[in-house]
Amino acid sequence: MKTETQIREEIEGLRSLTTAQLKGKYREVFGEPSRSNHKQFLFRRIAWRIQANAWGGLSERTFQRVVEIAVDADPRIRGAEGLSLIRLALEHRVARIDFSRREERCENHQMKTKLYESLAEWWPVMSAPEDYEEAAAIYGEHLAQLGDAPAKTVLELGSGGGNNAFFLKRQFKMTLVDLSAGMRAHSRRLNPECEHHEGDMRTFRLGSGGQFDRVFIQDAIFYMADLRDLGRAMETAFYHCRAGGALLIAPDFVSETFQPGTEVGGQDGADRSMRYLAWRWDPDPSDHTYLLDFAFLLRDSSGSVRVEHDRHVGGLFPRAEWLRLLREGGFIPANLTFHHSKVDYPLDLFVGVKPLPEPGPSD
Ligand SMILES: C[S@@+](CC[C@H](N)C(=O)[O-])C[C@H]1O[C@@H](n2cnc3c(N)ncnc32)[C@H](O)[C@@H]1O
Repeated sequence: MKTETQIREEIEGLRSLTTAQLKGKYREVFGEPSRSNHKQFLFRRIAWRIQANAWGGLSERTFQRVVEIAVDADPRIRGAEGLSLIRLALEHRVARIDFSRREERCENHQMKTKLYESLAEWWPVMSAPEDYEEAAAIYGEHLAQLGDAPAKTVLELGSGGGNNAFFLKRQFKMTLVDLSAGMRAHSRRLNPECEHHEGDMRTFRLGSGGQFDRVFIQDAIFYMADLRDLGRAMETAFYHCRAGGALLIAPDFVSETFQPGTEVGGQDGADRSMRYLAWRWDPDPSDHTYLLDFAFLLRDSSGSVRVEHDRHVGGLFPRAEWLRLLREGGFIPANLTFHHSKVDYPLDLFVGVKPLPEPGPSD
């Protein structure tokens, strides 16, 4: 029987394999081919299977207990979610080695995408505040109206180059949080009057919490690439939102609206120009992610042009999961849609109102 160290090494070794090699390994450990070409999916499945092969699955008794929990659960979480509870239990309980922290660090887009790190200086020629103006007006209306009283303060998580804030700051006092130093630097130049913080929306905590009328997350929510991270971002929002206040999240897609496609863009700046192609596609519709492959053409002041490829992995969740996570996070959830003149499908908005405390007997 393999030792834990051998198993750990075997799994670590998977990290250097190409997709084709991972597919070969998948066939070896599962005895059948995988149709997926998604590296992280293949890695996770193989890592789980190597451990399951070595240590076996759940004991029959534990498995029965999980089934009982799923079946006895609140009727609202029976059915498909009960089944996924069973599947999760099977997949995770067997895995003694906790790769989640390591993977979490790797999944953190900052480690993997160029756009917000080595290419961050190019952001202003990729995206201009005007690109955000029409949607920002709609976010502004909703932020103003949600909750029990008009909003004065808004915390934006994943505020990037500050394009939304450039418009929203006319209505609200904006506090801006982003992981990327390069992006925060652009935002500071655009919005010098706003407070900026370095932070990961999954873990960021400012002060003792409850100090903001609203919390807002727009396109940066894409980087919450699994349900656990999406739930953590909601926890961060709940922490900072005051009772009676609200969270507004504006994802680019939900599972129901996703369509593969391409988008071209880019602009000319004073000393540099960019043109890009963004190609979104979903190699494995059975999971909760999709890919955004960027091809950047970067022209500097000397006229020389270089090409960069940058892959972003993002989350894709059905509306029911969004609403469930908001409810489980303590919010009163709602789902709205709106139309944007440049988008040919309805864009979703998710709202979570933080309930006011129940009145006590003396109130
Ligand atoms: C497309 S940009 C956001 C642009 C922004 N909506 C604006 O108005 O300029 C996405 C941003 O998400 C940030 N981001 C990604 N993952 C994050 C995380 N876990 N916590 C905080 N920010 C994150 C990136 O650093 C990046 O600046």
